[in-house]
Amino acid sequence: MEDLAYINNEFIPADQARVSINDRGYTFADGVYEVICTREGGRPFLMAEHFQRLERSAAGVDIPLPPSYENWPDIIAEGIKRAGFPETMIYIQLTRGVIPRHHSFPEPLEPQLLMTFRPRPQHDDSFYNQGRQAITVEEMRWNRCYLKTIALLPNILMKQKAHRQGCQEAFFISEKDEVHEACAANIFLVKDGVIITPELNNYILPGISRQYIIDRARETGMQIICRTCYLEEMLAADEVFITSTTVDAMPITRVDNRQIGSGTPGPITEKVRRLFPS
Ligand code: PDD
Repeated sequence: MEDLAYINNEFIPADQARVSINDRGYTFADGVYEVICTREGGRPFLMAEHFQRLERSAAGVDIPLPPSYENWPDIIAEGIKRAGFPETMIYIQLTRGVIPRHHSFPEPLEPQLLMTFRPRPQHDDSFYNQGRQAITVEEMRWNRCYLKTIALLPNILMKQKAHRQGCQEAFFISEKDEVHEACAANIFLVKDGVIITPELNNYILPGISRQYIIDRARETGMQIICRTCYLEEMLAADEVFITSTTVDAMPITRVDNRQIGSGTPGPITEKVRRLFPS
């Protein structure tokens, strides 16, 4: 079994797939993306929701969806089958096309689709049992973080900054000390049994996992609210966790070297994690 790519209408081993140096994703980070994982033995999880967000992201940066768009679920199904992993992580990237570098949009515009099929990431049990550590960093991204674009330089720089300090995550915090999100995940706090997550704004990606948790938590009678959250209350929370398609709900037990709650992953984080199918 090897990583698989789908590009220019064909499946090809990922390490043989090539994009042009003129792909605007390469020259301008001019593109949008989605990451979808399969669960329960190869079923793409919340695929319709991921497609809805992709439509919103593409429209938000004026990239038209290509005519092949309606076949993408079939391409994904075929890719999962061909790749043959127990569970697959599907990366979908749509760029504004391949054309020599020029700032204006190409005419005619032919977006370039890339998909990759890789094993769904597995995380060490110790990450969930012991929790992870985060630093806080100033919000330095553009004010359309609700669009899932491939322009992720601040995200990767801040992730690396966290690594250099022996931590795994960086949390973007506004000038007014509002908690936004992690480099590639949404943030939740727990205080006195209530789950709180920052309400959506321009600096927060509407995470598919975030919404899934909000809906399921409400159904199962957990108390959950979306509202502005501040750094101080995060530091004083009983539990902090982050959520994404690739980590489910991951406990954060230290932020800026300050212990969160008891310093060990809390029961509500674990309960939320169990809301996700295997
Ligand atoms: N990222 N916020 C940011 C900035 C993200 O990049 C992601 C996910 C999330 C969580 O979204 P979701 O629950 O829909 O996965 C929030 C993906 C996994 C990535 O870039 O690999």
